[in-house]
Amino acid sequence: MKLAKLSRREIMERCITGGLIAGSGALSQTQLLAYWEEAEKQAMKPTAADVLGPFFRKGAPNLRTLRGPKDPGFPLLVSGRVVNVKGQLVEGATVDFWHADHAGRYDTRGYKFRTKVTPDAKGDYAVETVMPGHYGDRPAQHIHYLIAAPGHKSLITQAYFATDPFFEGDPVKNWNKRNLAANRELIMPVKLFEGPAAPRAEIRFDIVLEKA
Ligand SMILES: [Fe+2]
Repeated sequence: MKLAKLSRREIMERCITGGLIAGSGALSQTQLLAYWEEAEKQAMKPTAADVLGPFFRKGAPNLRTLRGPKDPGFPLLVSGRVVNVKGQLVEGATVDFWHADHAGRYDTRGYKFRTKVTPDAKGDYAVETVMPGHYGDRPAQHIHYLIAAPGHKSLITQAYFATDPFFEGDPVKNWNKRNLAANRELIMPVKLFEGPAAPRAEIRFDIVLEKA
């Protein structure tokens, strides 16, 4: 028997009427369907924006490893995924990524600690680098991002580190100290690993883009 192709809504309705999705009894089938659809629409909030800053340079090379073997600074892996608000792959995205070196200095003539990466077929990106240092004007460690993709709003933002002494051990309370970070959600938890060679830190920074 050939089955007719059903829309997502029709599949959902069948699941509800067939008891595969059960409400608590207080909700009608129509309400349950409406709640489900609304929740799916709100499933992912676009990533919060932050300021561009004065140190962006166009034309960075597409590099996965920014850390040289002799570079001082604590090794850091930054990874994440670029998706739309439905959690789907965003085709053709590019991620400009730049930060200060371990001592808080930007390379304003070359491209040290700068890259423009293209996420893989699943939307994943990963960059090996070092923990950025602190600098006078913006004394919280941070990584700058500029993400662009066809059909989507470009996003300028920054990732911060929950372990940064700047947040005094309490980023929930101190996230907006001196109005540096634009949004509490940009302060990322840091994992520390004791690898066989050397310890390293990791953060995950997922990026959710809105349609243009
Ligand atoms: Fe900066």
